[in-house]
Amino acid sequence: MPIATGSDPLAVLVIGCGNIAGGFDAARAPDAAPCTHAGAFRRHGRYRLSACVDPDETRRREFMRHWGVASGYSSMDALVESGSRFDVVSICSPTDCHASDVLAALRLEPRIIFCEKPVTPNAATTAELVQSCEAAGVPLVINHTRRWDPEITRIRGELASGVWGAVRTVVGLYNKGVLNNGSHMIDLLHHLLGPVSVVATGTPVWDGLPDDPSVPAILSGVKTIPIHLVCGHASDFALFELQIVTERGVLTMEEGGVAWRIRRTNESPHFRGYRTLDAGERHAGGYLLAMLGAVSNIHEALSSGAELASTGRSALAVQEICERIKEKSGLVR
Ligand SMILES: NC(=O)c1ccc[n+]([C@@H]2O[C@H](COP(=O)([O-])OP(=O)(O)OC[C@H]3O[C@@H](n4cnc5c(N)ncnc54)[C@H](O)[C@@H]3O)[C@@H](O)[C@H]2O)c1
Repeated sequence: MPIATGSDPLAVLVIGCGNIAGGFDAARAPDAAPCTHAGAFRRHGRYRLSACVDPDETRRREFMRHWGVASGYSSMDALVESGSRFDVVSICSPTDCHASDVLAALRLEPRIIFCEKPVTPNAATTAELVQSCEAAGVPLVINHTRRWDPEITRIRGELASGVWGAVRTVVGLYNKGVLNNGSHMIDLLHHLLGPVSVVATGTPVWDGLPDDPSVPAILSGVKTIPIHLVCGHASDFALFELQIVTERGVLTMEEGGVAWRIRRTNESPHFRGYRTLDAGERHAGGYLLAMLGAVSNIHEALSSGAELASTGRSALAVQEICERIKEKSGLVR
């Protein structure tokens, strides 16, 4: 199986054939925005889904059937033995498998690896993997999806240009694990506002993942902007929202970025001399466009050297913050 030359579609290997590999898109309308690796590669049009790996034969066969994948393997060893080559390796296996899958992927000498988050269960292992990829000269892209959300890019630009004046404080609401989902929140904060540090933590909420509770925290951002991480409970509903309180209004990301609510300041209609917030307007966000943005970014990086929006290095910086939150709350020594 030759890798792509010139304008050929890029050959893709998908490791792990579950929800984020393609399952989330299997039940969506064919013209809906793709939320998975396979869905985004197919919609982009300049990729070819060449092979997949999954030890679960039923899942593997169903993935091959649905996405028209020619070759399937039960393990990375079996795949490596086949001598196949790929431009892109997408790693969608469970988080515990990512380290061995990245190392096995490097043996295939791909042009790029696109790995799900969290990269690995701990930052030390993630750091080793990042170094291994750098030593091999293979870019490592991590699916911190909102890096490719066009509405977040637009709002980031507005915040940076001063349209909203000073950022006063930020509140992030999340559940289902400080590493599992909190890492998306820390990455979003890094992307929108710059690096954060950990000031204090609250009582962990054990909301479903055996080794990864959700942990409330107070962080400090650039210019010591106070950032509060607030936790719900994953058994209630999926919670991922961000409220940015600025000098000129409040910007709220809802439904994980599927929508934004914008409220601006005005003169209080009730109390003379006071400024308040208006009722606001809600508009569509860009979250559902982000997976397509990710594979577009990867294609542009390979075809014309575009900068990658989310890398092993940016994910490692995020994971180090997640671990500091866990350390401060007594979960890691
Ligand atoms: N970026 C996001 O927002 C997002 C969303 C969901 C999941 N994820 C991440 O994606 C990864 C997978 O999650 P999921 O929800 O798709 O899980 P899943 O359980 O639906 O799918 C995982 C698949 O991997 C297979 N598998 C198990 N061991 C394997 C191995 N050694 N090699 C290859 N395949 C193997 C399983 O049989 C299964 O089909 C996790 O790391 C998760 O954190 C990220």
